[in-house]
Amino acid sequence: MRQLIAGNWKMNGLTAGAEALVREVRAGADGLACDLLVCPPFTQIAPVAAILAGSGVALGGQDCHAAEGGAHTGDISAPMLADLGCAHVILGHSERRQNHGETDAAVQAKAWAAARAGLTPIVCVGETEAEREAGRETAVVGGQLAGSLPEDFAGCIAYEPVWAIGTGKTPTEQDVAAMHGFIRRALVERFGQAGTGIRILYGGSVKPDNAARLLRVPEVGGALVGGASLKAADFLAIARAAG
Ligand code: PGA
Repeated sequence: MRQLIAGNWKMNGLTAGAEALVREVRAGADGLACDLLVCPPFTQIAPVAAILAGSGVALGGQDCHAAEGGAHTGDISAPMLADLGCAHVILGHSERRQNHGETDAAVQAKAWAAARAGLTPIVCVGETEAEREAGRETAVVGGQLAGSLPEDFAGCIAYEPVWAIGTGKTPTEQDVAAMHGFIRRALVERFGQAGTGIRILYGGSVKPDNAARLLRVPEVGGALVGGASLKAADFLAIARAAG
């Protein structure tokens, strides 16, 4: 299975900068051995889609509402993302779990909605530093998987230890291998054969200088990249380290 390198731009990007960034990404994307995905903020999806048209670079949102439409001021639905050309949507990112109080049940409902709209959900899980220090990381991630994934889930998982996001800190390869192995076993236990084909991305301070070692770890199916996805040269260097 090809690895997926996904850029999570978070709340960054005005039109001129977003367009320049994605033009550079598109120009460097030919001949890569991995799949490439960019997830701009909602306001930049349409301009970015226009630049990516006809390229192999996929487009995604950073969240969606669980309903298809209706009285939900300020929200964006999965069919709206699909309508703009998105193929993916990031769901349950720790920043949304923390800052918007998203529960596992809410993430599960969004994952259903994404699948109904034909989007591939990328469901994020990960423990805090205190939870890891207490030796509870697999219990926490196991609980998030059990609660956040709907039946017949056919998306991706992103394992993002909260303490590694935006900090420059990363887990050891052994810790990544242990967690990705744990997640794989949980997916196979729940989804059977289909669970073997679900990509498990690693996220949290992935940079050009650590990408090769993180992407070589068994069961790492790609990376979810935050800060480094805002510089085309760094994002493409990470992509070149993938296979
Ligand atoms: P980071 O963010 O690469 O800046 O650590 C990753 C993420 O939050 O998806």
